[in-house]
Amino acid sequence: MIKYVFSTFQTTQLATKAKDILDDAHIGCELIPKPIGLGAGCGIALKYKEVDNIKVSSLVRTKSINISGTYSFPYPEKKERQKKMGKRIYLDHNATTPTHPLVLEAMLPYYRDTFGNASSVHAFGREARGAIEQAREKIAAFIEAAPEEIVFTSGGTESDNFAIKGIVGAWEKKGKHIITSSIEHHAVLNVCKKLEKKGFKVTYLPVDKFGLINPIDIKKAITDETILITVMHANNEIGTIEPISEIAKIAKEKGIPFHTDAVQSVGKIPVSVTRLNVDLLSLSAHKFYGPKGVGALYIRKGTKIDPLIVGGHHEKNRRAGTENVPGIIGLAKACEVVSLHMRKESENLKALRDKLEKGLKEKIDNVYLNGHPTERLPNTLNLSFEFIEGESIVLNLDLEGIAVSTGSACTSGSLEPSHVLKAMGIDPAVIQGSLRFSLGRDNSEEDIKRVIEVLPGIISRLREMSPLHKMKGK
Ligand SMILES: Cc1ncc(COP(=O)(O)O)c(C=O)c1O
Repeated sequence: MIKYVFSTFQTTQLATKAKDILDDAHIGCELIPKPIGLGAGCGIALKYKEVDNIKVSSLVRTKSINISGTYSFPYPEKKERQKKMGKRIYLDHNATTPTHPLVLEAMLPYYRDTFGNASSVHAFGREARGAIEQAREKIAAFIEAAPEEIVFTSGGTESDNFAIKGIVGAWEKKGKHIITSSIEHHAVLNVCKKLEKKGFKVTYLPVDKFGLINPIDIKKAITDETILITVMHANNEIGTIEPISEIAKIAKEKGIPFHTDAVQSVGKIPVSVTRLNVDLLSLSAHKFYGPKGVGALYIRKGTKIDPLIVGGHHEKNRRAGTENVPGIIGLAKACEVVSLHMRKESENLKALRDKLEKGLKEKIDNVYLNGHPTERLPNTLNLSFEFIEGESIVLNLDLEGIAVSTGSACTSGSLEPSHVLKAMGIDPAVIQGSLRFSLGRDNSEEDIKRVIEVLPGIISRLREMSPLHKMKGK
């Protein structure tokens, strides 16, 4: 075993910054959960070869980063650790899903054989065009839309940008007010923030302790100036499902365009634009076993909207750019595959998810559920483990071959607590210890058992090191 140095830092953010510095200097290093027995600093250690010790200290100090402690001892190589780990368990399906084998199979001919540009008039082009139009029909049928109401995009972020900026462009003469929620994905929130800088007024609606929006608040927020309401269908961090059709009814009565970001709900629960009664809906293939970098925006017939991307006459002048034919084929196949199994699969996932929650709560104390107990995506479980940092849990689970994510997003400079959990009124100290498990079609009972077996030990080790835990006399 090679001898390594382990440096500890006061926060995860500082450790991450130090890693960036070493990466730039081409010094091989790894962020790992802090091995037991290492003194002060957060639950993460930066590990590098002993020979680089002096260079590392001087490099990080030039950027004003203090190392809390340095320790040197032999440590197993990554490969040895991975061997010990055995099968890897993926519980981060809200971040992305593996491409379904049938999706991949359907896409391959469009890289290999039917590679034509769908705008070309020759046979190669016509074949590609035919395939796109068939795909459009399948995707439209999946969400109960008409084919001409589907515009292909590069994914959820573009669809959200398109919906908001497109409506604003076409409606700004009528007014400059937008209504959204405080728990939207950044693909919506950051567009709204940019618009505020351009003189638009944005109302960010509050949510209750379960992350639910009250439609009455929407009614109250509407003014003569309101030109768009955008509220997500299901939240990516906690899985709470919003009362979209009730909000749509209010928007319809007032004649205000209504967009929903359904990136997390499409493929997990039935989504029908007819039943939801929305004017615009964003979806993204990679969230339901399709390829990355392709999605769609549903635009109800007759909705006045400007294009986001201009250039050629693609997508009936609504979205310029040569179509991503294999991606679009993959998106359609993903719709077909999930629609065949959605009901049964979501029942299975819900049962596994609830087993996970019960098993963890039985073995660990001071654990809280974030999100609605019932109005929630069947695959999503967000828990807060008090007194510790979610980031440390993620790294420790990763060492065991288990992939999850935190409910909190890192922003540069500080460990920002999740805006979603903050909006729900959760104590910032409790937010730091939040973890999102998002299950998918390949997860099994064994996976859940393994998490229930491994996680309690990690939590108690981290709590032993936690000053907060000690302060509360636990
Ligand atoms: C609710 C929500 N909206 C939008 C996006 C962005 O989608 P994409 O990754 O396809 O750009 C995500 C992705 O995490 C999401 O969860």
